[in-house]
Amino acid sequence: MVRFDNVGLRYGMGPEVLRDLTFSIEPRSFQFLTGPSGAGKTTLLRLVLLALKPTRGLITLFGEDVSQIGGDALTALRRRMGVVFQDFRLLDHLTTYENVALPLRVQGREEVSYRAEVVELLRWVGLGERMHVLPPVLSGGEKQRAAIARALIARPELLLADEPTGNVDPSLAKRLLRLFIELNRLGTSVIIATHDLALMDQVDARRLVLGEGRLHIYE
Ligand SMILES: Nc1ncnc2c1ncn2[C@@H]1O[C@H](COP(=O)(O)OP(=O)(O)OP(=O)(O)O)[C@@H](O)[C@H]1O
Ligand SMILES: [Mg+2]
Repeated sequence: MVRFDNVGLRYGMGPEVLRDLTFSIEPRSFQFLTGPSGAGKTTLLRLVLLALKPTRGLITLFGEDVSQIGGDALTALRRRMGVVFQDFRLLDHLTTYENVALPLRVQGREEVSYRAEVVELLRWVGLGERMHVLPPVLSGGEKQRAAIARALIARPELLLADEPTGNVDPSLAKRLLRLFIELNRLGTSVIIATHDLALMDQVDARRLVLGEGRLHIYE
């Protein structure tokens, strides 16, 4: 569902951050993306998300060469993905509930058809009591959980999560990991970018390891 062929990326005139990446992400697969800070994990996720264009090479997403499509087709591809950003990107003027419900609202669904689902997911991530407050009053870990719930609510085909457990304690991290595994079991491909070795050790999953611009894969 994602294929990179000899993809390279540099920001502006800077050095190549990613070099000759060739790999694919299969439907219904689960993998970690790891490597030291600055290795390019977020950059790789932004390429998949179509938020960045590669400087060279070919990216195929859901069977389409992304350099050949634009406009509405790009928006349609993006909607098939759920994203947990490293910096959350919640909308501060919407409540936690409204933030999480947003992807469904954007699809044009009526609130009556999704309200119970949103509430259930918020409870699952432990935000049942916080759903009517605005993001600025949430703690870092609460914001992170709201961002995760928003990424999952529309049952994306591909979930990209950038350090999704960076702000929570180990037991909550374990619980969130279970949520990602459950989502994967229901058919979503999952890519989790993380430095957290303890988290990775809890699942026997494929590891994509970035270092010095290159990718090494451990099946
Ligand atoms: N918008 C940008 N403009 C210029 N350079 C950038 C930009 N974003 C990232 N970089 C550089 O690209 C490299 C990879 O950054 P990236 O954020 O992808 O790393 P990362 O693996 O996600 O790191 P972390 O674990 O700290 O989140 C770094 O050297 C960073 O300084
Ligand atoms: Mg990052």
